Amino acid sequence: MRGQSEALTAPLEIEDYGVQPMDDASPPKWHLAHTSWFFETFLLRPFLEGYEPYHPAYEHLFNSYYNGVGRPFPRPRRGHLSRPTVAEVMEYRRYVDEAMLRLLDATFTAELPEEARSEVIRRTTLGLHHEQQHQELLITDLKYNFGHNPLAPVYSAPVSGLTAAPDAEDGGLDFTSYAGGLVEIGVDPQAEAHAFHFDNESPAHPVYIAPYSLANRVVTCAEYLAFMADGGYRTPSLWLSDGWAWVNEAGIEAPLYWTRREDEWWEYRLAGAAPVDDRLPVTHVSAYEADAFARWAGYRLPTEAEWEAAATAAPVTGNFADSGRFHPAMAGTKDSPQQLFGDVWEWTASAYGPYPGYTAPVGTIGEYNGKFMANQLVLKGGSCATPADHIRPSYRNFFYPPDRWQFTGIRLAKDDH
Ligand SMILES: [Fe+2]
Repeated sequence: MRGQSEALTAPLEIEDYGVQPMDDASPPKWHLAHTSWFFETFLLRPFLEGYEPYHPAYEHLFNSYYNGVGRPFPRPRRGHLSRPTVAEVMEYRRYVDEAMLRLLDATFTAELPEEARSEVIRRTTLGLHHEQQHQELLITDLKYNFGHNPLAPVYSAPVSGLTAAPDAEDGGLDFTSYAGGLVEIGVDPQAEAHAFHFDNESPAHPVYIAPYSLANRVVTCAEYLAFMADGGYRTPSLWLSDGWAWVNEAGIEAPLYWTRREDEWWEYRLAGAAPVDDRLPVTHVSAYEADAFARWAGYRLPTEAEWEAAATAAPVTGNFADSGRFHPAMAGTKDSPQQLFGDVWEWTASAYGPYPGYTAPVGTIGEYNGKFMANQLVLKGGSCATPADHIRPSYRNFFYPPDRWQFTGIRLAKDDH
């Protein structure tokens, strides 16, 4: 898992590592350091006897948002740090990895007391899943940097076999019906003692859902272009009030990374700039755009419970980061919902809040998820930048409605009467 973070930076030039193109998008160098900081702060300092921190200033420098640890270095200024160098950050990673091996050794040879052992295993597992979250952010943050550079740099060459074939045709929009009723969503920590999940995915609890249908694929660029051509961005009745204010203030007229070249829309992909492909999923849209599109099309966004109830029975397969494509792919056959996992994170209409009975873990590590449970929406299913073994039906991602720099997309839903 640690090696994969570094493998993702292999195509970078040294100048790429320090750039922070906006407040939310951290430099690659920072991701590499902060993921090491997590192990140092939550495992090595409290549990490894005689551990000497790599550098006294790093506790502050690479703290993302844990107020219990101390005052974090301001996020918008992460890109101001030309030091430590990339080589020093890599050295920091080695130092932390070697110390972690010593700690795990002490854990599995039972040198540590029983109570500490189980906590070390629990936190190490969390640290590895945290590392995967930052692998996805590293990709999306890099895309924001490259995607705003007139040179449209290439991060990864197109992967053969995953680009839509020139003659492939989209079979149209179909829906699958679900009976709904009383369904259970979330994870029961007791029942799944050996499977990892984040605290925000539990407790499992019943939810009543009225009969509904979900689209068999996510919305394509062709469908989104039709919304744009129909004046979707200029029709206030399609928009939530906050969304209409956002469209006007920010001057939004297309998804992020789309640019107009004469009569054609182009988009930046991590494989370089290319004309928008009608048959591929639309991505890098805000929740406001997703909601306005759904209203224009005569549908709505699914709720978190509707999505999870449908996805629980589906195989967790799809176009993930492991494909090396780093762009959503065309849907396959459409007799049942496709693309539930991978391709694009699907905006839901559900606010990100605590499940009934949720309690954040005790201590500073409890700041991981719980304190963000206001003003954000839940997204489901992972994307083409998510590691394949990181996602599951109960996974709850969360972003603010205007956020577009993740690989976000749209699945339509409707009521069945
Ligand atoms: Fe983090």
